[in-house]
Amino acid sequence: MTTHSHLQGWRAGLLWFPDPQSPQARHESDGLLVTGQSADGIVRVVAIGPWATLHSNYPNLPTTHWPGLCIAPGFVDLHVHYPQTDVIGSPADGLLPWLEHYTFPHEKHFSDPGYAHEVTSFFLDELMRNGVTTALCFATAHPESVDVFMMEAQKRRLRMVTGKVLQDRHSPDGLRDTDTDLSLRQTEDLIRRWHGVDRLGYAITPRFAPTSSDAQLHGAGEIAQQFPDVWVQSHVAENLDEIRWVHDLFPEARSYLDVYDRAGLLRQRSVYAHCIYLDETDRRRMAEVGASAAVSPTSNLFLGSGFFDFVASDAAGLRYGLASDVGGGTSFSPFHTMHAAYTVARQSVESQGGYRPGMSLAPEHLWWQHTAGAAAALDLGGQVGNLLPGCEADFVLLDPKATPLLARRTAQTETLAEWLFALIVLGDDRLIAHTVVQGQPVNIGPVGGLSDNRA
Ligand code: GUN
Ligand code: ZN
Repeated sequence: MTTHSHLQGWRAGLLWFPDPQSPQARHESDGLLVTGQSADGIVRVVAIGPWATLHSNYPNLPTTHWPGLCIAPGFVDLHVHYPQTDVIGSPADGLLPWLEHYTFPHEKHFSDPGYAHEVTSFFLDELMRNGVTTALCFATAHPESVDVFMMEAQKRRLRMVTGKVLQDRHSPDGLRDTDTDLSLRQTEDLIRRWHGVDRLGYAITPRFAPTSSDAQLHGAGEIAQQFPDVWVQSHVAENLDEIRWVHDLFPEARSYLDVYDRAGLLRQRSVYAHCIYLDETDRRRMAEVGASAAVSPTSNLFLGSGFFDFVASDAAGLRYGLASDVGGGTSFSPFHTMHAAYTVARQSVESQGGYRPGMSLAPEHLWWQHTAGAAAALDLGGQVGNLLPGCEADFVLLDPKATPLLARRTAQTETLAEWLFALIVLGDDRLIAHTVVQGQPVNIGPVGGLSDNRA
């Protein structure tokens, strides 16, 4: 039996996924979550269930009681760029002009560690304010941008994964890797320095095929083979102009995705953002190797990139999860992302010469795709994104009365699905009353102070 120290109880409503593989949520209106520190120093869930049946098993448990609030798993953001925090809302005629006019010039600033530090601190605090406790995150091409991020994430005891961006061509001075071998050595050094330290992980991060030489992509693929438990992250099949460019640059590849496959960058623990214009062969190939898609609907709508095909992805068995993709994405809020995912899935899509009508994603499914499902896509199922015993104790406190309209609308719902839908459509950062990381409440929302009532 695993033993835990510093047992702590949390009494409130509870929302979680009893079968982590399935988007069936369970809700308990008066629940008890018990957390404790494992021998490795990580705080995990020890027990979860109805207060009435569970609390007698834990006499004298120090318990925080939050009547009227609901504990839910911390959200997992499967693709986000911390250096683009200040790029949000920069309009452009699509992806490539947006990169050229706003994003690349802005990312040059991250050669200055002081600047990177200020943005990292703001970014991580903003994630937590929005209830996001795990993210797969791009840094910039500057190795220092990884160091400051890792140090700040470590200080906050967060589970975060990031990597130095590899981009040795078609990029401006100050952002371009001028020495390909050096960029690969920097990647290896950063892996050795940070991967597996506390709750931190490293991701090999070629920006996208157009900004890496063949030598850099293949070098990254060799590192991916050498370090199989390190993540790989990039972008694929996001925008039609981008795809034409990739076909010109890599005429030998069968598809855009195939460029990465040939370089050894398609495997378990590789997460590709967007995946809008994949074909059936691509989707099946990703499913076969265990790679995942990071679905970024607010970004795809803002940049006019296109619509992720949920139906075709489900049919191919492609794993995916939701992502903000800030700063192409327009919000840090998982509620905004889930709402946008619903809107995107509702669209009819052109398929095999005809139109296939849109689908209605269930609210439990949307929620799962941003918690337990995103964790599974990240190969961290059972560790984050859920509240089953053994999961790391990162969770949020939802306040369904956070705004007058939320209070009014949620009071009229009759089923769990209706309640979750109201939260998704009307929610934003105000809905997150507290975020708890490793058993520590890290921010106090509009609800105010904590009450520590002994049970
Ligand atoms: N493709 C290459 N770089 C980027 C980026 O920073 N954001 C998005 N959305 N797509 C990209
Ligand atoms: Zn991105």
